[in-house]
Amino acid sequence: MHIKLDSLNHFFSDEKKVLNNINFEDECKSLAIIGPSGGGKSTLLRILGGLLYPSSGDFYFNQNRIDFKEHNEWHKKIGFVFQSNGLFPHLTGLQNIILPLTEVFNFTILDATKKANELLERFGLLEDAHKYPHQLSGGQCQRIAIARAVIVNPELLLLDEPTSALDPEYTSEVLDMINELTVEGQNIIVVTHEMGFARLACERVMFLYNGNIVEYNCSEHFFNNPQSTELTSFLAKILEWN
Ligand SMILES: Nc1ncnc2c1ncn2[C@@H]1O[C@H](COP(=O)(O)OP(=O)(O)O)[C@@H](O)[C@H]1O
Ligand SMILES: [Mg+2]
Repeated sequence: MHIKLDSLNHFFSDEKKVLNNINFEDECKSLAIIGPSGGGKSTLLRILGGLLYPSSGDFYFNQNRIDFKEHNEWHKKIGFVFQSNGLFPHLTGLQNIILPLTEVFNFTILDATKKANELLERFGLLEDAHKYPHQLSGGQCQRIAIARAVIVNPELLLLDEPTSALDPEYTSEVLDMINELTVEGQNIIVVTHEMGFARLACERVMFLYNGNIVEYNCSEHFFNNPQSTELTSFLAKILEWN
């Protein structure tokens, strides 16, 4: 994927810029965004996903400018996964997964179910699919939520701290699934605090600090040679007990 951000600014009130005139351009398959709380990670991700209009500036995906006013077209091309899985509690896993196909893409229930079953089988979720969210573990729910996001074959999958709300024992099964998707060629941008995942599974890493991209590099160099004092001290804090 080719990503270009051109003078991107965002502020919720006049006092403080949450994204501070971001200019960025690169081509990659998988990008991790890391940084301290309040640095603007979720705001940037929501803008990229068309869930929030920037105060000013432009976003180009594969050389096409995303028209934020035509966000419905863009929504059809992306998948979004949040920290909390956002599954409908009154629907089974399968019913949750087929919803975007039947509601947005006009699939029949039969065709949608067939497509969903292929995906569920691929990710070892078939047995869980007929259960309701409250009958599933946090890890299973998040994997169903990821399946729901990718069933529409999105050009870009955005994930905002997909493992932060999970009990630690479920983190790896969710990261494994995201990694499998990237290996298969899914474009992803993930906000994460899982440094091992950013390092090993993502091609590029971005450090967002106070609304600025303070560092950006291929993952190996990013972690081996942090350039700024901000990133150095952030990594020292995060990795202290790892
Ligand atoms: N809807 C909102 N209204 C007002 N301020 C917000 C809103 N969302 C986020 N902010 C503020 O924007 C800043 C960046 O938030 P966010 O993008 O969520 O950061 P991060 O995801 O890196 O923790 C924070 O100071 C936060 O309080
Ligand atoms: Mg956030």
